[in-house]
Amino acid sequence: MTTRLANRAAQVLPWRLDCHVAAGNDRAAADELRRGLSARRPWVPARWFYDDAGCALFVRITALDAYYQTRTEEALLDACIGDLVVSHAPTELVEIGSGAARKTRTILDAMDHLGTLTRYVPFDISPGAIAVSATQIAAAYPGTRVHGVAGDFAHHLARIPRRRAGDRRLVAFLGGTIGNLEPRGRRTLMRRLARRLRPGDALLLGTDLAHDPGVLVRAYDDPEGVTAEFNRNVIRHINTAFAGDADPVDFAHVALWNARAARIEMHLRALRPIEWSIAGLGIVLPIEAGAAIRTEISCKFTRAGVEAMYADAGLTMTGWHEDDLGRYAVSVGTPS
Ligand code: SAH
Ligand code: AVI
Repeated sequence: MTTRLANRAAQVLPWRLDCHVAAGNDRAAADELRRGLSARRPWVPARWFYDDAGCALFVRITALDAYYQTRTEEALLDACIGDLVVSHAPTELVEIGSGAARKTRTILDAMDHLGTLTRYVPFDISPGAIAVSATQIAAAYPGTRVHGVAGDFAHHLARIPRRRAGDRRLVAFLGGTIGNLEPRGRRTLMRRLARRLRPGDALLLGTDLAHDPGVLVRAYDDPEGVTAEFNRNVIRHINTAFAGDADPVDFAHVALWNARAARIEMHLRALRPIEWSIAGLGIVLPIEAGAAIRTEISCKFTRAGVEAMYADAGLTMTGWHEDDLGRYAVSVGTPS
């Protein structure tokens, strides 16, 4: 399923969007969700956080005092991006999981300043998030082509537009989103991203680091309750996409540190017995009071672990920038 807003829209919009996702209408996504929910320990793929409401809630999370990740990454980008763009002189930025693309401005500014910026390619599961950010970025960087791709990074990376001869590409994968994948999924994704890099290109990766569990849990269970709302929105999103009938208020938000797997997990715990009918998936899910659905893993890394991840993908880690508290890192990988 592909919708091209491109040609007709290009006459009125200063950006284009190729859309390879549609809520409730994506067989592979529906099958994966049905499998997850029906598993002995039910889980939901992370993409189900990100409808328009979920994207807006995530933007609110990024501004929370407890959620140190975004401001830390932004400061690290500020400090390292100048040297990176001077050494690689990228002509285009491809951003995976671009979301609201706020920190992206730091990168685009540096490329613009150097005079190399020609194209920005935001890639995200949320067409709405791309539409908003593409509009803003096209207005802020006139003359820069903005070509969005709405797709799942597990399935649609091949839809990233081809480059023109002589283009050098910087691929950014920020926010620690790589940590939302299981080890196998992230190995596959890193290999796929690496395969698309050419000599002179670079991958800029944001990773949250393993550190104080108290600080980590607070980042996922903020006192304002925004993350709890973000978590419960998964129920609402699935209800809307597949005609489900569960009430989000019947679930409690749980965030815990899994030390063995070095990851934060978010769960939704049923506050009473629930029969969740999801007509569009053809299932009725009985959930006992106290039983939980795992909605997210957020893996936390070490420098050695990130270096090994690059090596496995055939990349060399050529840059590592970590904050003074050892909570977050931005790193650079280049083709070996
Ligand atoms: N990069 C931004 C947003 C991070 S939130 C930042 O650092 O603040 C994670 C983003 O990844 C969301 O915008 C979400 O829509 C997107 N995303 C989640 N799962 C995805 C998937 N399977 N394929 C593509 N994008 C995905
Ligand atoms: C997008 N991703 C990296 C966030 C994270 O920290 O794992 C999503 C998130 N979940 C709860 N708060 C933020």
